[in-house]
Amino acid sequence: MSNEKEKQLVAKEAVKLVTEGMIVGIGSGSTAAIFIEELKKHVYNKNLKIACIATSLASKSLIEKAIPLIDESLQSQIDITFDGADRLDPKTLHLIKGGGGALLREKLVAKSSKENVVLVDSSKLSSPLEGFPLAIEIVKFGYAATIARIEHLGYKGVLRKKENRPAESDNGNYIFDITFNEGIKNPLKDHNILKNTLGVIETGFFLDTATKAYVAYPNGKIEILEKP
Ligand code: A5P
Repeated sequence: MSNEKEKQLVAKEAVKLVTEGMIVGIGSGSTAAIFIEELKKHVYNKNLKIACIATSLASKSLIEKAIPLIDESLQSQIDITFDGADRLDPKTLHLIKGGGGALLREKLVAKSSKENVVLVDSSKLSSPLEGFPLAIEIVKFGYAATIARIEHLGYKGVLRKKENRPAESDNGNYIFDITFNEGIKNPLKDHNILKNTLGVIETGFFLDTATKAYVAYPNGKIEILEKP
């Protein structure tokens, strides 16, 4: 079974958690896009009245017109959020996110949500977290000095580019992708060090957000993991 099929399986299963009246957070990326299509069908079939908040302009464009969106100030508490991940540690439910550059809005939504459901195909499992660069959102002004500060701390990475220019997040910031050559032993320590670096806005470590993870395997089985 392909990764795409696995993403579809988890999306179809997890969407059942959405019930009447909920405010639903929607993540970003290919898994979130598949989830959005399942959510539209679910809302239509069950005649549900719900509202959504999207974590990226790309996800927003897939939802609007089909499901009402709430005010983006995040004044209302979100009932449940569904998002993908680049890596999931199945033992801790710690995540690496930000491959699509939407980490800041994803974290803002996740932190305002009572429940956070992560949807992954089995290729994303990794304990400890490794095998995918860690995205860091940095302020555009002074970005070269910020990168020098990060590198001075011993981290190595590259400024994300799109069409030969630095890629901008939906918030108008830049993304610096850090490569860890070995498994990440202490993600909280790395998160805190990076977060305390001038010019860094947020890291792609999501260490205390996920409450549940739906994992699909090539044999078509789904495993539901709960926060330990
Ligand atoms: C977006 O910035 C990311 O955090 C995505 O959630 C993550 O990259 C997973 O994307 P896919 O579902 O496309 O693998």
